[in-house]
Amino acid sequence: MTKNKIAIIGAGHTGSTLAFIIAERALADVVLLEIPDNEKPARGKALDIKESGPILGFNGSVVGTSNYEDIQGADIVVITAGAARKPGMSRDDLIQINENVMAQVTEGIKKYAPESKIIVLTNPVDAMTYAVYKLSGFPKERVLGQSGILDTARYRTFVSEALDVAQTDVTGLVLGGHGDTMVPILSTTLVGGVPLKALLPQDKIDAIVERTRKGGAEIVGLLGNGSAYYAPAAAIYEMAAAILRDEKRLVPAITYLDGEYGFKDICLGVPTILGANGVEKVVELDLTEDEQHQLQHSAEAVEEVKSALKKK
Ligand code: 2OP
Repeated sequence: MTKNKIAIIGAGHTGSTLAFIIAERALADVVLLEIPDNEKPARGKALDIKESGPILGFNGSVVGTSNYEDIQGADIVVITAGAARKPGMSRDDLIQINENVMAQVTEGIKKYAPESKIIVLTNPVDAMTYAVYKLSGFPKERVLGQSGILDTARYRTFVSEALDVAQTDVTGLVLGGHGDTMVPILSTTLVGGVPLKALLPQDKIDAIVERTRKGGAEIVGLLGNGSAYYAPAAAIYEMAAAILRDEKRLVPAITYLDGEYGFKDICLGVPTILGANGVEKVVELDLTEDEQHQLQHSAEAVEEVKSALKKK
């Protein structure tokens, strides 16, 4: 059996944390790719991860490089490269800088991993996923963006804290753009199968929704330098595992919409089935009028960011 291979573009905090999770859970061989100036730290992180294998009990290849040839044959390429948000900077401020990074990275992927699935994390992630989709020319099933699993994980964490229950017992869905307009779908939130609305008063739920929407900024403010990486890396791991193991997971992901939920020519977070082909299906829920309205508002916010892209 050939081993799976995941290439991670960008060996910053998220990229290297993701590499560690993938290696430790033996999901795939890992290539951590950096720009030439940062090749040595990428090699150092890869070696450091590999050296934890004898202790934690995993094998497999973890390589740091600046040579795009090394991503050859990757089943999945994760894009974490780009500038990170600084305190006070919105995700949308990053668009110009990171669009150029996407263009360079996509060239390398087209050349060396043309059959791969691409998972984008770089912010503003909805617009960057759209840019990579257009730049790559890949079928829409093979270009995904990560936001919904992370946003939902934050929401699940806050619900579990409010109720003092296990966070893994809280399930739900956060849809829409990865920003202040994201839409937690309250009707889908269950705690051990019990609807959230039966367990928490509305004002507490409203506060959780608000905190979820600002979840990224909360971590940015606390870190003081850089943005979240443990939970973002875990979220990408979950997507990559769903694809490589053909798990048919029903999870939120950013995907190109062609009429689903009434949206066209936009990449937005919606419920999807993830399996061996990437996004195998967009699951269309019967949203309430208010939820559909909120999703529309979120799509408009994404559309505005997207309109700043140079290469459309
Ligand atoms: C976050 O929400 C970095 O966008 C990422 O933390």
